[in-house]
Amino acid sequence: MTNPALDEDRLRTEARAILRENDLGGYTIPTKGLYPFQWNWDSCLVALGLAHVDEDRALTEIETLVAHQWPDGMVPHIVFHADHETYFPGPDVWGTARATPTSGITQPPVLGYALRRLLDGARDGAMVAPRVAALLPKVAAWHRWFANARDPEATGLVAILHPWESGRDNAIDWDDALARVPTDGIGSYVRRDTTHVDAAQRPTKEEYDRYLWLVQRFRRLGWNQAALHDASPFRVVDPGFNAILTRSAEDLAAMARALDAPEIAAEAESQAARGRAALDGLWHDGLGQYAAYDRAAGALVESASIGGLLPLMALEPGHPRVDALVARLAGLRAAVSHPVPSHDPADPRFDRLRYWRGPLWLIANRLVADGLARHGRAEAAAEIARDGLALVARSGFGEYFDPLDGRALGGKRFSWTAAMVLDFLEMA
Ligand code: GLC
Repeated sequence: MTNPALDEDRLRTEARAILRENDLGGYTIPTKGLYPFQWNWDSCLVALGLAHVDEDRALTEIETLVAHQWPDGMVPHIVFHADHETYFPGPDVWGTARATPTSGITQPPVLGYALRRLLDGARDGAMVAPRVAALLPKVAAWHRWFANARDPEATGLVAILHPWESGRDNAIDWDDALARVPTDGIGSYVRRDTTHVDAAQRPTKEEYDRYLWLVQRFRRLGWNQAALHDASPFRVVDPGFNAILTRSAEDLAAMARALDAPEIAAEAESQAARGRAALDGLWHDGLGQYAAYDRAAGALVESASIGGLLPLMALEPGHPRVDALVARLAGLRAAVSHPVPSHDPADPRFDRLRYWRGPLWLIANRLVADGLARHGRAEAAAEIARDGLALVARSGFGEYFDPLDGRALGGKRFSWTAAMVLDFLEMA
């Protein structure tokens, strides 16, 4: 940056403009064209950026999402508020029969984490606290749904049943489990994503076929969430997802204590404690970090991705694995020009351009930075924030970035990138 102060002003103005232009009234789309609906974890993370601008609007973002929670407690990964031709698979493919159509799967539950940040950071506590309090039972219901529908054997860890649930759609972590998903009978279809973005930066056709097979399988089961877990050939325990859930449970408990909801607090505390203890089963000695567990195959997955570093945001301070994770991050930092790659560049399967198989994502960086700060590594966290700002100042508000040369990739003028810029500006 030549003049950091000028750059900061420009970044702030531009980030706010992007959030405004992607605001369709009560919800924010990730970006025009490629993602024209409301996505679950996008909205929760966008709310963190909005909170620096307009707390009322930040809460509305989350309230709109939660208004589409299913009766069983699941908060779906997409809410199709309005029709759009530019996206596939749309509501007719999902067939979830909801008044406002939604997808039938979920996404990383950052909701509890985001709400606590809104509550703790509130400038207008009298407005924020009651609205957060009203949301707590709904967060608790979602977490309970996870325990019931995604951890039927009470292991303390929940499975994802579709790669899209992880939020890291085509991560190398899912390759082996996805290869067992058949593709017969899916019929022909036309992808829309590759009309917006270079195909080399998106998942492959073979992956897409398997993604669709899973959707069709679940649809045939009537989206009966109680039946999906055992019926899915894809059942994977993601350390990142479980770290997020565990952390959100911890945050839910803290909010519930502060807002006088002791029953919710007690339930969430015990869920967080179970999650923290169970995470240890995902430690992979050879990789020196956490790894996914393929529940259908009964084995840890050989894949060193950023998902295995996210437990930093859930481990108790002083936990014996913290130093190893911090060392892993330092090693990754040394291997790229821009931290944090979504996959280890030393792995031959690393792909600097292809979505979650290498590129860096500012939202993942934000969660890693949170984990570092939690364990007293404030300077390392601030470095991630500063690098993110410099990257966007140079390359723009891309969806994700090449960690080797910093070029912006995927969709443009991306909401959660803008939100993270607003958040990083407060940290750097
Ligand atoms: C992609 C990402 C996912 C995100 C969505 C909308 O599917 O992998 O994490 O929520 O796009 O931005």
